[in-house]
Amino acid sequence: MRLIELVRSGGEPAAWYDRIAPIYERYVRWLPRGAVGRLVDELDPRPGETVLEIGPGPGTELVELCERVGPTGRVVGVDVSGEMIELARARLERRGFGDRATLIHGDARSLDHVADGTVDAIFAASVLESLPPDGRRTVLGECRRILAPDGRLGVLSLARSERLPARLYAGCRRLLPGAVDCRQIDLVAVLEAAGFAVRSRWSDRLVGVPVEGAVAVPASDRRRTNDEGSTFMPLRVFES
Ligand SMILES: C[S@@+](CC[C@H](N)C(=O)[O-])C[C@H]1O[C@@H](n2cnc3c(N)ncnc32)[C@H](O)[C@@H]1O
Repeated sequence: MRLIELVRSGGEPAAWYDRIAPIYERYVRWLPRGAVGRLVDELDPRPGETVLEIGPGPGTELVELCERVGPTGRVVGVDVSGEMIELARARLERRGFGDRATLIHGDARSLDHVADGTVDAIFAASVLESLPPDGRRTVLGECRRILAPDGRLGVLSLARSERLPARLYAGCRRLLPGAVDCRQIDLVAVLEAAGFAVRSRWSDRLVGVPVEGAVAVPASDRRRTNDEGSTFMPLRVFES
């Protein structure tokens, strides 16, 4: 297992996630994770690929990603919380995946240690919406930089919705902004504004709260493919 230490940030959100890491791990283990599993399926990591997960937390999906890329692939996890990184490291070693994983204790706003165009797929579940808009833009700019020209980005985030669970969530966030820190975002608009073309999107629920998933590619990739006259997979929309 390669562990790269880049930050020892005491700031938000590191301090908050450091504090809740043990509880989060226990809670994540028992919750239905169908929406996150679907994101893995839609992103479709393949044997031999390099996949980077932003904000893996305790590493539940890192294990799945390691299984998908197989012994010739590589999985990189970058998380700003040192406590989460420790939980992910222990999980990957327990599952025998230390040889194909690298963990970076750092902020996804600065992925300097990952070279341009070297990542086949990026996975980000329940993390983009914990960042303010300028932070999200910076992270997505880094994603564009490190993705291979035919690379893909899979994101799952809380959705804006008029449904009762979403309104209850928004109410909790207004009452407890420090504890309920994730924003409900318009995922497709956020991705397109950051220079991605959305290839597929779907609605889902995570513990009853509406979420949205999308797989996107760098927009220049779409233009080039279309200019060459080859078939570009049209946007697929799934509603639940
Ligand atoms: C809500 S948890 C989601 C964990 C996991 N993806 C899941 O679905 O259970 C958000 C995670 O993102 C991490 N995180 C938040 N902001 C980050 C940033 N700027 N760079 C890297 N990781 C970040 C947090 O430390 C935390 O582990």
